[in-house]
Amino acid sequence: MGKQSEINVWDPLVRLFHWTLVGAFLITWVTEDDWMTLHSYAGYLIAGLLLFRLFWGLIGPRYARFTDFVKTPSKVIGYLKDLTTLKAKRYIGHNPAGGAMIVALLLSLLITTFTGMLAYGAVGMGPLSDMLPSNFGYGSEWFEELHEFFANFTLLLVVVHVGGVIFESLVHKENLVRSMLTGTKRA
Ligand code: HEM
Ligand code: HEM
Repeated sequence: MGKQSEINVWDPLVRLFHWTLVGAFLITWVTEDDWMTLHSYAGYLIAGLLLFRLFWGLIGPRYARFTDFVKTPSKVIGYLKDLTTLKAKRYIGHNPAGGAMIVALLLSLLITTFTGMLAYGAVGMGPLSDMLPSNFGYGSEWFEELHEFFANFTLLLVVVHVGGVIFESLVHKENLVRSMLTGTKRA
């Protein structure tokens, strides 16, 4: 519970989701070279978190719902224009640009984990290995390349995401990182 002037925005599961995701994402990057077992486990954890978040976006509390923060492209562009003149309106939940970034992050992470499982399956490892045709190892490099591309793309999104969080925090004179930890924002 926040103080009287504070309102609860991010429920405990959204916060747990976020910081577990950050930790697991960090682990996938640290382990990508030499620790494939740990790498795959951290990746499966991310896949599980994504499934949870998709579900929570449908049935979770108000600010966790997709209907609260997924906006049309024209609204997103309009918001970004307002940001350039520092006139962007403050949102209690995710702003339109933040909402678009969340959709991009979730999709990119989903593709990254799936292509990772394909690359792993192609070398006879992981749950997909038994489902792939036996000649699938041929061309497995291709899945690795695809996986690498999306891992890098996700990283690029994360850099823009964190940049956006810092910028928004400055524009609206509030600490959004703290909000993602405590769950509350100034009313
Ligand atoms: C240390 C680095 C990071 C910081 C400081 C940070 C901070 C934040 C903050 C403050 C929000 C809420 C934005 C808002 O107020 O609208 C948020 C949301 C989000 N962030 Fe991050 N983030 C970080 C890293 C990451 C990474 C690495 C990922 C994914 C790989 C990620 C994915 C997300 C997602 C999916 C949301 C939406 C949360 C939800 O509603 O479920 N973040 N982040
Ligand atoms: C969001 C989650 C993930 C991220 C960010 C990620 C990131 C990466 C990165 C950066 C590489 C190095 C690419 C290269 O230089 O070739 C890599 C390689 C790989 N990853 Fe992932 N990964 C994720 C999930 C997974 C999952 C779920 C699996 C399988 C279960 C997986 C399996 C692999 C395999 C087999 C390789 C190739 C390793 C090699 O070079 O031999 N990854 N991953």
